[in-house]
Amino acid sequence: MTRSLLRYIPTAVLRAGAALAFAAAILVCLPGSAQAGPCDIYAAGGTPCVAAHSTTRALFDAYNGPLYQVRRASNNATTNIGLLSAGGFANAAAQDAFCANTTCVITIIFDQTTRHNDLPVEPAGTAGPANSGVPAEALPVTAGGHAVYGASFSGRMGYRHTAASGVAVNGQAEGMYMVTSGTHFNSACCFDYGNVEVSIADTGNGHMDAIYFGTLCWFAPCNGAGPWIMGDLENGLFQSNSGGSLSTANTGNRSPFVTAMLKNNGQNFFALKDGNARSGGLAVRYSGALPTSLAGYSPMHQEGSIVLGTGGDNSNGSIGSFFEGVMTAGLPSDATENAVQANIVAVNYGGPSPVAAGTLTPGSTISLRATTACCTTRYIRHQNNAAVTTVISSASAQLDKDDGSWIVRRGLANNACISFESRDFPGDFLRHQNFQLFRQPNDGSALFLADATFCPQAGMTGTGTSFASFNFPTRFIRHFNNTVFIASNGGTNTFDATASFADDVTWAVSAPWTP
Ligand code: AHR
Repeated sequence: MTRSLLRYIPTAVLRAGAALAFAAAILVCLPGSAQAGPCDIYAAGGTPCVAAHSTTRALFDAYNGPLYQVRRASNNATTNIGLLSAGGFANAAAQDAFCANTTCVITIIFDQTTRHNDLPVEPAGTAGPANSGVPAEALPVTAGGHAVYGASFSGRMGYRHTAASGVAVNGQAEGMYMVTSGTHFNSACCFDYGNVEVSIADTGNGHMDAIYFGTLCWFAPCNGAGPWIMGDLENGLFQSNSGGSLSTANTGNRSPFVTAMLKNNGQNFFALKDGNARSGGLAVRYSGALPTSLAGYSPMHQEGSIVLGTGGDNSNGSIGSFFEGVMTAGLPSDATENAVQANIVAVNYGGPSPVAAGTLTPGSTISLRATTACCTTRYIRHQNNAAVTTVISSASAQLDKDDGSWIVRRGLANNACISFESRDFPGDFLRHQNFQLFRQPNDGSALFLADATFCPQAGMTGTGTSFASFNFPTRFIRHFNNTVFIASNGGTNTFDATASFADDVTWAVSAPWTP
């Protein structure tokens, strides 16, 4: 059509035509009509992905490369985990085979765009020491009916690509989302995915533009209990231009799978949305001006690097879950973002098949009851970070029940054994230190992983279960004077006493006080 003909078509008709063309492009890309990925949808909307990371699936219809690299503990060998088919889901069976009888960490999450904005493990920054990769088997879920793994972050875990290619800098527009979880979060700084500094340091207001998800309320008010999506724009987690939330309806999102979205035109506008990644649409939590009462955010000063799991300066105390995320060039339209949410919902993220409570199957929640005659109403719980036994009953306070409940995980140091994650402090595990048991955050170190791994065997009294320490296999979880140790029968410590040893190391694996 020539320019002269175009002149005679009313603007409204042209706009409707453009909208129809966009809708058609999106339709072609919707799952079901073709196996489109979110990045095909962003491209159809004119805001192409410049980074695309996932441990669960391809984010482009045509992608058929590696999703992530794992390294196994037994011999430090690495392998790349790819897809079952082009545009499809992760080949988790390849990981299971490679990591059998040892453990693996994720060492790189690959960028699926042609820009190679891969995410290796983040080194030390000004606010935190060097990070570990996440344990590769800690978050088994399903996507599209396939068993896959998400990335489960404890403190001191993070990934970073410095000086990424094509990511917004100095006030350029961008969009991004991540699929995370509303059941695994904390209030430490900062579970982020997005645009950060080139140096691993805080270089000033507006030098970051990242999605934050958690319960760190930087600016009041934060409504309800969270966790909330916020924009980490550096030196502040923003829910609006004034910092705090403007929406009393936004009490947080506790869905097991959460879509968290941020867009920022780099000059004077940003928006935050979230939704249940398993159903429905997106809630707009904020859409409006960038902060102006504090200098540096309007316009922005992004530096174009990418972080996952920590703050811009490597503040790395946070925990969280990550399944997929992308960053775009340009400001995505609402229609594009809605289509991306529909695409995510179509993935049908889910938990592993339900695991019965009160068993030692990974994923099960349990309480551990002592069996010694003195103490059959006492359970292992944490109190002031130490593991002790206290009497817990249905009449107990909720706090006592929470502290006395544990989620069984595959052994952090050996997946033939198990680890016990705190029910009310996600990311914290039972570990021994100087032979005493404590609740502590997983710092990813080899020592922690080993100290937090226990191998179940038939109970020494002939009933129940005893738990051998993975790295001190002659020592078993024992209560002694109501404190919990790893003890060896007849050893040199008072808690190694032979009297009632078998009873004290025999536990009844019970239904959890807090499911
Ligand atoms: O903006 C919040 C945090 O502040 C950033 O992530 C970090 O770089 C700084 O400590």
